[in-house]
Amino acid sequence: MSLASVHAGNVGLPLAQSAGFWFPDQASDVAAGHDFTFFLILGVCAVFFFLITGASAWFVLKYRKRAGHKEQATSTHNTTLEIAWSAIPTVLLMVFFGVSTYWYWHMVNPPMNEKSLDVAVEGRKWKWWFEYKGEPFKSPARVADLYVVKDTPVRLSMVSPDVIHSFFVPAFRVKQDVVPGRINRLWFKPTQVGTFRLYCTEYCGQDHSEMTAWVHVFETEAEMVQAVIKAADTKSIPPEELGPRLYAENCASCHSKDGKAGLGPTFKGLLGSQREFEGGTTATADEAYVRESLSDPKAKVVKGFNPVMPEFKQLQAHEVDALILYLKSLK
Ligand code: CUA
Repeated sequence: MSLASVHAGNVGLPLAQSAGFWFPDQASDVAAGHDFTFFLILGVCAVFFFLITGASAWFVLKYRKRAGHKEQATSTHNTTLEIAWSAIPTVLLMVFFGVSTYWYWHMVNPPMNEKSLDVAVEGRKWKWWFEYKGEPFKSPARVADLYVVKDTPVRLSMVSPDVIHSFFVPAFRVKQDVVPGRINRLWFKPTQVGTFRLYCTEYCGQDHSEMTAWVHVFETEAEMVQAVIKAADTKSIPPEELGPRLYAENCASCHSKDGKAGLGPTFKGLLGSQREFEGGTTATADEAYVRESLSDPKAKVVKGFNPVMPEFKQLQAHEVDALILYLKSLK
C-alpha cells in the first residue's frame, strides 16, 4: 500500500511517494506528512529568498550612482505596500501553522480504537532495551532491538535510569526524549516491512554515538512474536559465551576488564578481593556481594566512587551465573 493511499481518505494534501532529496525511506504513516511540511516551508522560503536577493541586486544596479543619474528622495509611506507585506506573510504563516499542527496532532495522539503493540523502552548508557509482556508473550521478553508489525500502531513507554537520551528513527520521522524520573511516550505506525536504524539523538556521554539499535518491521504478528522470543532466549547460549556478551551489553561502559578505573571499579581481579566501602566498612567481594550489587547497587559503594550504578534486577538467574563465571576469568 502506498503512503499516499494511507492518507488519501482523510487529508487532501499532496503527498510525496518516495522520500528523495537524500531523505531516508518514508516508513511510517506520518513520514509523508512530515516531509510535505518540511518541503512546503523550504519551498516558500526559497521563493522569497530568490525574490528578495534578486530584487536587491537589481535595484543596486538600476539606481547606482553614475553620471547623468539624478538622485531622488526616498518615499516614506505606501499603504498598499505595507498592507501587502503584512498580509502575505500572515497568510503563509497561518498555512504553515495549519499543516504542521495537523501532522503534530496526528503524531502525538495514538489511535484509540485500533489494536496496538505496547512496548516498554529503557534507554541507558549506552544501550536500548525493549520489554514485551502480556498477550501473546508467555513471559516478559527483554531484547536489544525493537520488533514491530506493519500497519499496527506501536506505543512506547520510555524511561531512563541515568541521563537524558532520545529515541529517533529517521525512517519513521519520530523522535522523543527519554528523561530520567519520568515516563515519556511515543507512538508510530510502521507502513513498510524491513529493518530500520534507531539512534540516540541526545548527547549522553562517551559512547553516545554507539547507542543505536534496529527496528525490525514484520508482515505478521506471528513472525514478530517468534523473533522476539528467539532474541530474548539466552538459555540456549553456553554460559562461557553469554558472560562476555552480558558484560559488553551491561557493564563495559563503567567497569573495565584491564585494571583501569572507570565510572565504577575495574572488574579485573574483583572476585575474592578485599573491598573498602564509603562509610568505612570492608568486605570480601564474593559471589553474594556481586549478586547484591546487581540488585541493590547502593547497599555497598566502593570507596572513592559515586553511587551512580543502576539496578540490574532484570537479569535472569542463569544470566547472573554466566556473568559471575566471566568475572572469575578476569584474574
Ligand atoms: Cu543515549 Cu545519546
